[in-house]
Amino acid sequence: MAETTVITFGTFDVLHVGHIRVLNRAAELGDRLVVGVSSDALNFSKKGRNPVFSQDERLELVSNLKSVDQVFVEESLELKRDYLTQYDADVLVMGDDWAGKFDFCSDLAKVVYLPRTPSISTTALIEHIRS
Ligand code: CTP
Repeated sequence: MAETTVITFGTFDVLHVGHIRVLNRAAELGDRLVVGVSSDALNFSKKGRNPVFSQDERLELVSNLKSVDQVFVEESLELKRDYLTQYDADVLVMGDDWAGKFDFCSDLAKVVYLPRTPSISTTALIEHIRS
């Protein structure tokens, strides 16, 4: 039987337990997990600030997690469909903060929204360390 490829996307800056849990749960949905890590430029355009860790550092961190098989740089939010095709994805996993927003990809892959881990985010961590 052909293997099932799961794909997910994110910035994964200041890696925290919410990131680890979503990646572990995503990996359980298939045989192979591919992660698109937002480029520094994409992160800046989405969040209006530079990430704490550079894209090379974030790629190195995520690629060394045991649930992750392959990483690539996500250069643009508009390329989701191209990435799904390029990486042969069967399942697209997104956090439920994006619920419904990626249903336009459901002809290419099964779209699954996973609940976020409560009470933690990179933004909250940065604020906490600053204060
Ligand atoms: N995520 C999660 N639970 C959290 C935080 C993030 O499941 N508490 C998931 C997101 O839903 C996404 C992935 O982790 O699928 C990467 O999210 P990212 O935006 O990089 O992390 P955040 O902590 O949400 O970052 P920020 O505060 O900068 O938005």
